[in-house]
Amino acid sequence: MTWDETAPDGGTRLVGAEADGEDRAAEAALRPKDLAEFVGQSTVREQLDLVLRAARARGATADHVLLSGAPGLGKTTLSMIIAAEMNAPIRITSGPAIQHAGDLAAILSSLTEGEVLFLDEIHRMSRPAEEMLYMAMEDYRVDVIVGKGPGATAIPLELPPFTLVGATTRAGLLPPPLRDRFGFTGHMEFYTPEELGHVIRRSAGLLEVEVTEDGAGEIAGRSRGTPRIANRLLRRVRDYAQVKADGVVTREAALRALEVYEVDERGLDRLDRAVLTALLKLFGGGPVGLSTLAVAVGEERETVEEVAEPFLVRQGLLARTPRGRVATPAAWQHLGLVPPPSPDRGGQTGLFGA
Ligand SMILES: Nc1ncnc2c1ncn2[C@@H]1O[C@H](COP(=O)(O)OP(=O)(O)O)[C@@H](O)[C@H]1O
Ligand SMILES: [Mg+2]
Repeated sequence: MTWDETAPDGGTRLVGAEADGEDRAAEAALRPKDLAEFVGQSTVREQLDLVLRAARARGATADHVLLSGAPGLGKTTLSMIIAAEMNAPIRITSGPAIQHAGDLAAILSSLTEGEVLFLDEIHRMSRPAEEMLYMAMEDYRVDVIVGKGPGATAIPLELPPFTLVGATTRAGLLPPPLRDRFGFTGHMEFYTPEELGHVIRRSAGLLEVEVTEDGAGEIAGRSRGTPRIANRLLRRVRDYAQVKADGVVTREAALRALEVYEVDERGLDRLDRAVLTALLKLFGGGPVGLSTLAVAVGEERETVEEVAEPFLVRQGLLARTPRGRVATPAAWQHLGLVPPPSPDRGGQTGLFGA
């Protein structure tokens, strides 16, 4: 089995943070339209509010904005809010969509004054496009290369002032010259359960689903700090409540539905629990090598490392050490198991060739 979080069929992983096909359709209706409606992220919200208000007061185009943070935390939503707050049109593209500098030149040269250009996954842009972007951001100018080989000439082209909003899940991968050209960088944090509860109640209102306070709370606790996951779990619980009960999203409905979908009270799914269970039951809590652990759960190394582990590490259930993967006391507790009495685990891991 493979776990492609971006698979278009959408059925792969209920607690994956990337958008699937169903999310894309559903999310448009759930996006907050202005800063006041945007839940949580008080630091970014306040900072951005100042940046945008000041620009509006000056009658100027807003500074370039970089938004960094994990998938599903609201980067695309914020970019649209920036455009709405500035009363400006928005053009949406992404790093991987820009293969050649010429692709970027075509987009830049068609921007209108004050327009917001949203560049998603900006860290995945090609090098030549990146260099063109430096000049566009700083001087509102691009050099369009006409012709090929020795006869090629660069024709400078003036651009109207625009606002670049870049989004990245990997701010560390951005070259410093690019990072430095943003006037403001917003770091998006994972949401608290209270904030997610708010997101869920808001979404339920828009979907015209009745949700109780503890129903929203139960879903929030399992949503991994991520609004996209909260909205997706809400839709699944709503389905359950409609089919098996009276349609109201209660705590009871959430508990039952998420048991069916194998999302536990901390937001771990079957894969996460398989990794943790193997680590505890087969390897006494580790340390065990990644490859061995992957074989034990019948998954690829990459799946264990990139899909399951980040959240387990974030939850303080698993640690990556130079000697291998190690379970924390919280992991034993979460799975209701008792850790072995002594830290000396003898030849247990040797059995599996770790
Ligand atoms: N602060 C927020 N308040 C309410 N809903 C939010 C918030 N942030 C994200 N969402 C919801 O989560 C979904 C995913 O957000 P999105 O902006 O696409 O995330 P990203 O671009 O960071 O992956 C959107 O449908 C949006 O409705
Ligand atoms: Mg996005």
